[in-house]
Amino acid sequence: MGDKLADIKEKLKSLKSLTAAFVGPKYVIGVDIGSYAVKIALIQEEGGTLFVKTWGHLPVACKPDASPEEKKTQTVNMLRAFLIERGIKLKEAATSLSGNSVIVRYVKFPRLTKSELSATLTSEAEPFIPFDINEVQLGFHILNEIVEDGMKKMETVLVAAKKDLVASRLDILQGAGLVPTIIDVDSFALENVYEKLREPKAETGATLYLNIGHMVTNLSILENGVTRVVRDVFISGNTLTKSIMKSLQVDAAKAEELKKTHGVIVDAAEKEKALAEGNREALGVSQTIAAVIKDLVAEVHRSVDFYLSQGPERSIGRIVLSGGSARLKNLAKHLSSELKVPVSVLEPFAFLKNPPADLPPELTPAFGVAVGLALRHNKDWL
Ligand SMILES: Nc1ncnc2c1ncn2[C@@H]1O[C@H](COP(=O)(O)OP(=O)(O)OP(=O)(O)O)[C@@H](O)[C@H]1O
Ligand SMILES: [Mg+2]
Repeated sequence: MGDKLADIKEKLKSLKSLTAAFVGPKYVIGVDIGSYAVKIALIQEEGGTLFVKTWGHLPVACKPDASPEEKKTQTVNMLRAFLIERGIKLKEAATSLSGNSVIVRYVKFPRLTKSELSATLTSEAEPFIPFDINEVQLGFHILNEIVEDGMKKMETVLVAAKKDLVASRLDILQGAGLVPTIIDVDSFALENVYEKLREPKAETGATLYLNIGHMVTNLSILENGVTRVVRDVFISGNTLTKSIMKSLQVDAAKAEELKKTHGVIVDAAEKEKALAEGNREALGVSQTIAAVIKDLVAEVHRSVDFYLSQGPERSIGRIVLSGGSARLKNLAKHLSSELKVPVSVLEPFAFLKNPPADLPPELTPAFGVAVGLALRHNKDWL
């Protein structure tokens, strides 16, 4: 009996590898190519449990005035070296895009089949895309079918990314020896993590996500697991550093250090202490950061107002922060008092029974997008 079972298991195993040979492996390496750091995550199932097989946080160590080509070469080299050093055999990779070369639109198209829409996508999409249609790569995802004004329509997410951005990302992955099989959008990758973490019964109101990176902040609003608003805002970690450079008259490295050391002062006692000690540095940094955050809060208000105006009985129940800048000291507290909503910092590995023990806790918020990408399955999107 035992022998028979072992035999069947063996057969299943070879069947699995045969399937993998035809349709490709199930898993992908998540590679989030940021302007500050490349984040890598590989998550696989073993014995019914998901494990982080590999993680990587590779800071882009270029001079601030390095050309885009130099940055690209450095990124390729460090990614390739990392994969070799870790002995990663899996080649299939997922990456994602954001910023001003990517547009996400929610569009109601006349009802078509998926292949009909694929065939006519360029002409259907053109009115909604503010770029030259010949310069973009288009993708779509049908959300659901509705009837509007007596006509059958389908709500669709339309994604347009400038071809040169897509080509540059593909060059990086291929240069590092990987095979890109999924190109996603940063906010949608995060949504994947949220799906693993959210407790639907405990939730009232929508969740607003702020993935605050170095050059860009990805803002999205999710209601019952469906993204309702996606926008990129160009107030982020680099804006804070630049502001500190200007107001405290320091160079980029010093400003980065001051930002990380002091953060923003929120409670009165802390402010009193800084005043009593004559800590002008901490007070100056805090004031500068607070002014930048004020602009970010204004952008959040704009998106929330838009979301609330789109339907009845809508509310924002909570804000979740991710990205490297989510680690800014007191940021969650400060945003919570400004926006009057509970604010927490994302723990992207929290859904795993065994989160990676060797990952420094201060790096975890930056892994939101990479973990979301690692949870995709080979060729399941775009
Ligand atoms: N302790 C800290 N306090 C404040 N900011 C921090 C801290 N640690 C990291 N940061 C900031 O986080 C940012 C990097 O975050 P992240 O890795 O998410 O960016 P990225 O994905 O590379 O950038 P982007 O997606 O915008 O191109 C930098 O601006 C960095 O200064
Ligand atoms: Mg990023």
